[in-house]
Amino acid sequence: MKMEVTGKNHSIPLSDGNSIPLIGLGTYGNPCMTSQGTSYEAVKLAIETGYRHIDGALVYFNEHEVGQAIREKIADGTMKREDVFYCGKLWNTFHPPALVRPALEKTLETLQLDYVDLYIVEMPTAFKPGDTFYPRDQRGKYIYHETDLCATWEALEACKDAGLVKSLGVSNFNKRQLELLLNKPGLKHKPVSNQVECHPYFTQPKLLEYCRQKDIVIVGYSPLGTSRDESWVNLKCPPLLEDELLMSIARKYKKTTAQVSLRFNVQRGVVVIPKSFNPARIKENFDIFDFSLSEDEMKAIDGLNKNIRFVELLMWSDHPEYPFHDDY
Ligand code: A2P
Repeated sequence: MKMEVTGKNHSIPLSDGNSIPLIGLGTYGNPCMTSQGTSYEAVKLAIETGYRHIDGALVYFNEHEVGQAIREKIADGTMKREDVFYCGKLWNTFHPPALVRPALEKTLETLQLDYVDLYIVEMPTAFKPGDTFYPRDQRGKYIYHETDLCATWEALEACKDAGLVKSLGVSNFNKRQLELLLNKPGLKHKPVSNQVECHPYFTQPKLLEYCRQKDIVIVGYSPLGTSRDESWVNLKCPPLLEDELLMSIARKYKKTTAQVSLRFNVQRGVVVIPKSFNPARIKENFDIFDFSLSEDEMKAIDGLNKNIRFVELLMWSDHPEYPFHDDY
């Protein structure tokens, strides 16, 4: 993919006529390990650094801080509302059509914004509806719910028509689940994006090719190989940022392995949303527009793919719509 991207201009088109910045700040931090105000400070610094895309969710428990930071940066004249792209997410417990708009309205109320730029189905796996985000029975087993992705999607379409959201997408959907939506009779708005794990150790060759054919942008989560928090990360996969090849390419350009990993995806049109709440690393991750990888380097990094996920979500692998049993 040939394109000139800069710190000021790095958006790519979406199929609905809107566009999305190729790099965004991820805002999920373990709520038990993140002190109050941390995500607020991180988002403010990110915007000052030049980020114009913030990835958040109601289920991250810090959406109020993220919204406050965005609003303050608009109020102080750093940017206008239309210059920043916010992605919010519909959680598993809000899949029934009647709960979709109230869930989005809850996000808007928490952010204190009038609309979000992108709203995505966070996972294809419905849970027991309600305000308990992780419903479990007495034995500790997750309580699932009948999943009707097409019905949920129609409720989202109505939210776009009502002006609460500019673009609609999905996350953690496999090919079959994407096809289900794309082939839905009377489909009004196509999903513009699919947010999935994507980095040099999990390059998503098949899903990426399929999504390119269908004009669906891939947004890569965990683009740095996650926090390696053993409570939810598969640690059989070695640390991405210690990879020998990435280290040698990083030395050549006087960059870090994190910057090389992000640049790899950006250069092939994959959006990245690295999470950092650390000031130096927030800046480091955005500093990827003053070098470019050669075709051979892109191929070599592509060759690092191990087809192993850091984020397997195995605790939900018995859900009928668990997305990762399929090849892609
Ligand atoms: P921190 O917030 O302390 O910077 P991912 O986006 O793949 O989920 O990775 C996020 C993890 O990587 C977080 O633990 C984050 O910690 C850390 N991280 C973010 N940026 C960098 C970087 N440039 N170098 C090393 N680690 C980073």
